[in-house]
Amino acid sequence: MPDLNLEKYVEQESSDLEEFRKQLSGRNRIFKPNGREFFEEKYLPSKLHHRSNEIKKVLSVLRPCVDGEAPNTLMVYGPSGTGKTAVLKHVGTNLEKIGKEDNKPISFVYINCSTMDTAYALFQYLGNFFTDEDKAKIPSTGWPFQAVLDKVKENLNQKERVIILALDEIDRLVKKSGDDPLHTLLTLQCECTNAKIGFVGISNDLRLCENFEQRVKSRLAGVTLTFNPYTGDQLKTILEDRAKQAFIEGKYRENEIALCAAIAAKESGDARRALRILRTAAEICESDGAERIEERHIYEAKNSIEKDVIKETIQKLRDHEKLTLYAVCLLSLRKESITTGSVYGTYGNLAKIQGMNQLSPRRITEFLTNMDELGLVSAYVQSSGRKGRTKQVELNIPLKETVAILEEDPLIKPLRQKLHPRGYIEKTLDDVKE
Ligand SMILES: Nc1ncnc2c1ncn2[C@@H]1O[C@H](COP(=O)(O)OP(=O)(O)OP(=O)(O)O)[C@@H](O)[C@H]1O
Ligand SMILES: [Mg+2]
Repeated sequence: MPDLNLEKYVEQESSDLEEFRKQLSGRNRIFKPNGREFFEEKYLPSKLHHRSNEIKKVLSVLRPCVDGEAPNTLMVYGPSGTGKTAVLKHVGTNLEKIGKEDNKPISFVYINCSTMDTAYALFQYLGNFFTDEDKAKIPSTGWPFQAVLDKVKENLNQKERVIILALDEIDRLVKKSGDDPLHTLLTLQCECTNAKIGFVGISNDLRLCENFEQRVKSRLAGVTLTFNPYTGDQLKTILEDRAKQAFIEGKYRENEIALCAAIAAKESGDARRALRILRTAAEICESDGAERIEERHIYEAKNSIEKDVIKETIQKLRDHEKLTLYAVCLLSLRKESITTGSVYGTYGNLAKIQGMNQLSPRRITEFLTNMDELGLVSAYVQSSGRKGRTKQVELNIPLKETVAILEEDPLIKPLRQKLHPRGYIEKTLDDVKE
């Protein structure tokens, strides 16, 4: 048996650990212990800056619930990161507390439709919200929908109360399941006598209701509230507040916070983006061992987030959209101008090679419009002499990176191998100057 010299081994291990511990303690800390929590999505700030008008408006619509009456329907619109969810949760949870104090039960039910985008999932959650008993719970699959619905009504109707039902990212539900679940939900209002239900819908898409059937449109017609993007100064207050809670004093300065706010305001006025830049800058600063957050950390954070955002956006596309984007990439390699017609042709070939059904030209044009809105491509109409008006398409993001992200995808990976003679795409990509 070989001599393992365990003692020496253990000694070595612990001295490595000691070394590691030294590095860890010598590391320059920016975050307070648990400071990262203040940057988490689930963290609800107690003070919402620059949203007092919106809070007042939401309160004025929901006020009847403190008198035990169903409030009017409220639709909240606005771009990402403008505080819609934060304001609704702030008002909803505070109303719930007031209802408890006054002995007039108010339940605030918050449902994010991006994770609950089918009728079954939505009603299962709603039904189970009002019962703690395992026996009375609706299982995650298996019940006929009518049985789920009956159980929901029974549970909602158990006692007299007001229910504020907030459906966040309602556009996701409609995209996946149409407006039927919404209609069923809205009819609960008439069918539950003990429970008085008020609806709040939250969406990024201002035109959401345009395509609804009349029966849904008329029930949703209530009060509308739109949130605007934050200005640089407003974002600065939000960031300063968070920095104070999360960072050790002296580890950041006003100038760098202002820079972070200005970058986010210029991009979109999105508070989530601003907070993400600041948090990433603090992390870069910590691993850099710098004394405090510097301008270069903010710029580095901005660049790294941009890459992540492109990746996340591409990964979230549906299969046919990924094929369409890959078609745009392949056409971009040829360095010729790209029309929607040529995208459709290349997409069709890719779909065929992949053994997938080819969607209609209209759907591909819709995909290109969607990808234009997401900032991945630019699709614009151009007059082209005798041929009339054609739609031109351009890739809006770096070609090399986009191809690399797409080719990691299990859908595109095998396609790439079938498509290109060995080395062709690398050579062409090497020629691409980004
Ligand atoms: N006025 C504010 N004061 C403090 N923090 C804020 C404020 N507005 C937004 N935030 C923070 O910014 C982040 C994004 O806000 P929120 O989730 O409410 O945006 P949203 O409008 O719902 O965006 P989306 O449409 O993408 O869902 C959250 O972490 C929230 O805490
Ligand atoms: Mg939200």
